[in-house]
Amino acid sequence: MFLLKITTFAGLASIATAQSTFVNQTSCNGKNYTYQEFAGYGLISGNARDEFGDTIGGIGSALALDRSQWTKLSNGSYTGVLWALPDRGWNTEGTLNFQPRVHKFDILFTPQPNATVANPSGNNLFFTYKETIRFFGPDGTPCTGLDADGTGHISFDGFPDLPVATYRGDGFGNAGPGGRRIPVDSEGIVLNPDGSFWVSDEYGPYVYRFNSSGVMIAAIRPPDAFIPMRNGTESFSADSPTYYASKGAGDDVYPADNPTGRDNNHGFEGLTVTGDGNTLYALLQAAANQEGGLTKQTERYARLVKYDITVPSAPRYAREFVVPLPLFNNPTAKASKNPQVAAQSEIFHIQDGQFFVLARDSGAGHGQSSTLSVYRHIDVFDIANATDIKGSTYDCANCSIASSAGVLNTGITPATYCSFIDFNVNSQLNRFGVYNGGAQSASLLNEKWESIGIVPVDGLDGDDDEWYVFSMSDNDFITQDGYLEGGEFQYSDDSGYTLDNQVSLFR
Ligand SMILES: *[C@@H]1O[C@H](CO)[C@@H](O)[C@H](O)[C@H]1NC(C)=O
Ligand SMILES: *[C@@H]1O[C@H](CO)[C@@H](O)[C@H](O)[C@H]1NC(C)=O
Ligand SMILES: *[C@@H]1O[C@H](CO)[C@@H](O)[C@H](O)[C@H]1NC(C)=O
Ligand SMILES: *[C@@H]1O[C@H](CO)[C@@H](O)[C@H](O)[C@H]1NC(C)=O
Ligand SMILES: *[C@@H]1O[C@H](CO)[C@@H](O)[C@H](O)[C@H]1NC(C)=O
Ligand SMILES: *[C@@H]1O[C@H](CO)[C@@H](O)[C@H](O)[C@H]1NC(C)=O
Ligand SMILES: *[C@@H]1O[C@H](CO)[C@@H](O)[C@H](O)[C@H]1NC(C)=O
Ligand SMILES: *[C@@H]1O[C@H](CO)[C@@H](O)[C@H](O)[C@H]1NC(C)=O
Repeated sequence: MFLLKITTFAGLASIATAQSTFVNQTSCNGKNYTYQEFAGYGLISGNARDEFGDTIGGIGSALALDRSQWTKLSNGSYTGVLWALPDRGWNTEGTLNFQPRVHKFDILFTPQPNATVANPSGNNLFFTYKETIRFFGPDGTPCTGLDADGTGHISFDGFPDLPVATYRGDGFGNAGPGGRRIPVDSEGIVLNPDGSFWVSDEYGPYVYRFNSSGVMIAAIRPPDAFIPMRNGTESFSADSPTYYASKGAGDDVYPADNPTGRDNNHGFEGLTVTGDGNTLYALLQAAANQEGGLTKQTERYARLVKYDITVPSAPRYAREFVVPLPLFNNPTAKASKNPQVAAQSEIFHIQDGQFFVLARDSGAGHGQSSTLSVYRHIDVFDIANATDIKGSTYDCANCSIASSAGVLNTGITPATYCSFIDFNVNSQLNRFGVYNGGAQSASLLNEKWESIGIVPVDGLDGDDDEWYVFSMSDNDFITQDGYLEGGEFQYSDDSGYTLDNQVSLFR
């Protein structure tokens, strides 16, 4: 069914180069959106390294475009500064003591509206590495990508109890003093005017504020319903064994799946701020485990929390809503395992309670067993009519908004969900030499698209409502020439692949 739709639109889209044509349109609670064209493509090599000698990977987990730097040049090109957030380091074979960080790049983008399938453009988006900020705990100890401990936490004055990862040696499998660090699996970023920034994480799931030197200066702990529990106590482990223990070691925590709270590796994938800078929203990747989060067919209803950050040192929990994630048919799964939920990897507040949301399938793309993705969208949702579920009815440790089979409680109206940009329209992708489905190659789109940023086409304020939408993919640090720990830890991913950090742009 999906394939049919794509084919239909592909025919229409092949002529969509002039302003009057478009790829798709949607209307969401009275507001119209037009996907004009796939506008650009670029990449950062999967072998690139940062100023510390470490592989630049995983950076599509989130991005932020510094609006004050975005400039339209007189020759038609644009320049800007893009912040790219990697997650917890190379972890396809187990977690490591990677210090979480954020990278900054100068970007140069030159529109190629005349690119066609017959006469495609080469890459038109280029990156120049600038610098990296590494993350430290409130006491200056580096943070870590290692999995959180199965029990316990670490405490600092003025902070909620935080997850902790205890490791031996150097945390890379070699000799060393061991230690305890705050584990951060970064998935969302929001920049503040003072140079500090918020990062959302999957372990807690928490939201951390770091100052411009990368030192943690505040933390948001969400309501108890989000906190992973095992044996009746909080247990922040994501069952992601370390690299040095993982070879044949199986689970690193029992039970592997926490019965309540965020699912393992399904934390705050989505983080965004309103245009006035006063309100932060964080969205779980999919349902919490007490309300359907344990299977792909039932994890539909994801919680969205709203925080007033007018006083940045004292974020105030304001409201909570439910976002109904989209469903799709996975062609590699049995009929009895369909339809499945397209979990979300990023949100972006657009206007008046309307958000972009990046929802997608998994296991399809460059380096995966399947190359054909069937659901990879930037959609829109609207919370104007959604029920505010904040409060003791739904926020307690074992409180649920849906049954374990994923049926939403009566009395809760979720957000309105509107399908919008499909990444996988080949007649658009081919205009820049890239594609979905088919042979494995560097031009095949990666699996994990996880970020959204927008900048105005006019290079100024976007008063004409024309925007470029950026998205980057998380390549999971997959390379045959990888370096971590200042280059001391070398690796080559077992998959045999090197995946670039791919970047797409939509108008
Ligand atoms: C076009 O948008 C509609 C919603 O307006 C959506 O149902 C459909 O899947 C989209 N199709 C493509 C190819 O993007
Ligand atoms: C939201 O509620 C308003 C007022 O009741 C109604 O007019 C509108 O159609 C609703 N929108 C959606 C998307 O449900
Ligand atoms: C949105 O589009 C619909 C039909 O395509 C049109 O009737 C409506 O006036 C548009 N709304 C706005 C706010 O432009
Ligand atoms: C526009 O100027 C910038 C800065 O000199 C340059 O990097 C870019 O390539 C130019 N763009 C075009 C289309 O010539
Ligand atoms: C695109 O083609 C039109 C018509 O040939 C031409 O006027 C325009 O300059 C071209 N734009 C670019 C960016 O090459
Ligand atoms: C939960 O209890 C079981 C049985 O006592 C124990 O084996 C397991 O380690 C406990 N898990 C945690 C996270 O405390
Ligand atoms: C960040 O916080 C640390 C610890 O309080 C402090 O030493 C450092 O100067 C701060 N950096 C900035 C740029 O404020
Ligand atoms: C939820 O937790 C409360 C407090 O620990 C407990 O009294 C109650 O029985 C639990 N309910 C369920 C359904 O587990």
